[in-house]
Amino acid sequence: MTAAAVRTAVVPAAGLGTRFLPATKAVPKEMLTVVDRPSIQWVVEEAVAAGIDDIVVVTSPHKKPLDDHFDRAVELELALEEEAKVDLLEKVQEVTGLARFRFTRQESPLGLGYAVSMAARQVGDEPFAVLLPDELLADGGQTLKQMIEVAESTGESVVALIETVGAEISNYGCAGYSSRDGDVVNIDRLIEKPAFEDAPSNLRITGRYVLTPEIFDKLARTEPGRGGEIQLTDAMAMQIDDRGMRGLVIDDIGFDTGQKTDWLRANVELSLRTDDSLAIVAMLKAVLESNGF
Ligand code: UTP
Repeated sequence: MTAAAVRTAVVPAAGLGTRFLPATKAVPKEMLTVVDRPSIQWVVEEAVAAGIDDIVVVTSPHKKPLDDHFDRAVELELALEEEAKVDLLEKVQEVTGLARFRFTRQESPLGLGYAVSMAARQVGDEPFAVLLPDELLADGGQTLKQMIEVAESTGESVVALIETVGAEISNYGCAGYSSRDGDVVNIDRLIEKPAFEDAPSNLRITGRYVLTPEIFDKLARTEPGRGGEIQLTDAMAMQIDDRGMRGLVIDDIGFDTGQKTDWLRANVELSLRTDDSLAIVAMLKAVLESNGF
């Protein structure tokens, strides 16, 4: 079965960001800078590179900077124009022009599944992507593009998966599968944080999904699970029997910027991909040497 084109991406950004406190007390974790832009902008750029032009951001009442970042900044733009700071003006305007942005509020942090369900009205009856903004792939949209191709050709939901080592799987959503064709698996089970001995595979779910719209009915019927949260994995597990589900196995998870050391790694590695890379290498060497490494 083939499906409608995937045009919309949902970016859930209403979590509390507790792993990054106190930095995230007043600043949303999705606004923490990676190199020269907030992490959420990296993810929006990834979606746009994969061909998506409509972004629905799920925020919470305390996360106004997210709206502001993607909105016009008229006074700033006028000031930059008057000072003829053309490059900076372009950078500011580029953010707003990346896509069509819509915002929806999640009043209480009831989990990722609940956040996704908040976007039902904006998404409508079409397949859509979900990108977690604290996982940066920084791959120019390649993974998402491939996932969209699989979703559009099969009519099924697709989730990106990555191999884990040993007991690591117990920290994640795990996907069991019945068959594999290259990088694509036919998922037959999804289990949230299984005990190592119960895990049906070593493949864990990552923060990239392409979902068919029936997921909204499943989410409405999903009881709160672990920690009183509505788990997206539980609703997806209900979709498997009805419609089937694929997994795309990827080999690089990118960066978990909701976690302190990986946020730092993202800054170092991604800054090495910029025009300033030589200066950054020299700076890193000097810092290491002067600290006795
Ligand atoms: P995380 O669990 O990584 O984010 O959810 P968190 O809850 O903000 O962070 P910690 O664990 O307390 O440090 C992944 C993504 O899902 C969003 C988060 O904003 C994050 O981008 N999310 C999570 C929601 O939108 N709503 C929720 O209720 C929970």
